[in-house]
Amino acid sequence: MSILNILTYPNDILAIPTKPVTDINEGIINAISDMGETMYYSNGVGLAAIQAGIRYSMIVYDETEERDQRNFKELINPRIIKGEGEVLSKDEGCLSVPDFRADVKRFSAVQVEGFSKEGKPIKIDAEGLLAIIMQHEIDHLNGILFIDRIGMLKREMYKKKIKRLLKKQANKS
Ligand code: CO
Repeated sequence: MSILNILTYPNDILAIPTKPVTDINEGIINAISDMGETMYYSNGVGLAAIQAGIRYSMIVYDETEERDQRNFKELINPRIIKGEGEVLSKDEGCLSVPDFRADVKRFSAVQVEGFSKEGKPIKIDAEGLLAIIMQHEIDHLNGILFIDRIGMLKREMYKKKIKRLLKKQANKS
């Protein structure tokens, strides 16, 4: 197992839609366990493979708040088959968008289908935090970041901040 390097905005790879997993082989199983380790290490509640540069459609998550009671889950080729209601996800954040949070409009409940790492079909009725995690992580698989779903002004503010930061770093090196 190892901690994976997490790609951050504006890395182009984050905007590329992922490929479906067609064979749950050892490489996929190992990637899932590394993703889990990386998620816990980074104090995240979810992680999509593409955030570690792995261009397959899979996510890991754990929505439990108490981290001494882990409830690790993976979902391969997940997709939202139904979304209901509307909620403002308060102060949403992302390991690939460091030092930034914003409110995001989301479905309040979603139904998600996918597969476990044993290849078993899984169907989840998610609400609350889990529904937000599902939408956020499945967005990653389609090349979408939460900053793509916020108001233009706030997004431009963040992009400018990142540009300034990158420029500063470039001048230093
Ligand atoms: Co994210």
